[in-house]
Amino acid sequence: MSCELELGLCLFQKTRQTPRIEYWLNKMQSHDLQLFQHSLLAGAIASVFARSVSLSTGDELLLVTGALLHDVGKVLIDRLILQKNGPLTSAERIELERHPEFGYRLLKEDGWDPAILELVHLHHERLDGSGYPHRFHAEKIGRLVRMVTLCDVFSALIEERSYRPSPRRPLEIMSVMTSELDGPLFGVFAEGVAELAFSAQRFLKLEMSGALIAN
Ligand SMILES: [Fe+2]
Ligand SMILES: [Fe+2]
Repeated sequence: MSCELELGLCLFQKTRQTPRIEYWLNKMQSHDLQLFQHSLLAGAIASVFARSVSLSTGDELLLVTGALLHDVGKVLIDRLILQKNGPLTSAERIELERHPEFGYRLLKEDGWDPAILELVHLHHERLDGSGYPHRFHAEKIGRLVRMVTLCDVFSALIEERSYRPSPRRPLEIMSVMTSELDGPLFGVFAEGVAELAFSAQRFLKLEMSGALIAN
């Protein structure tokens, strides 16, 4: 295992085992297994990403926590919507797109730091204003939010879904989202993180299968 991957996964394991985070991860796991797995993968990728851009220790923790909890609002979305195979109706899409708002509210009531609330609330905003829920533009979307978004998009692309095989070249798909994603951060991600993200994914699969004991 490479040093960057090992350091990243060490940060990931420590963060996810924090009781307040574990509480919400358990909620996601019992609501929808795929949601739980996606959250872990985004968190693991964020841990590696945090190391590649040399964040402060405080920002590293914010980034990994934000990535682990970014979709927590989906615990309030009907499983039938989350698990639907095939396209959503427009009513279902509207309901699904409420999850950043739901996550923000859940964590606010739980007393979380405003910086984490921001990551959860804004992870679907896009720099060109095409995202949701607020259609914010770049100037209102901070660096850590942009990083969580990259981890979220990449993990969603490399996950296997029952209705589609995972695309062969996720970075190519992301490289044409230039108006939506942060270009320089995407450059760092593509260069130093994407490959390690696949290793993190293999690590999580082994752990899920019981072949590894998390420490
Ligand atoms: Fe989301
Ligand atoms: Fe997500």
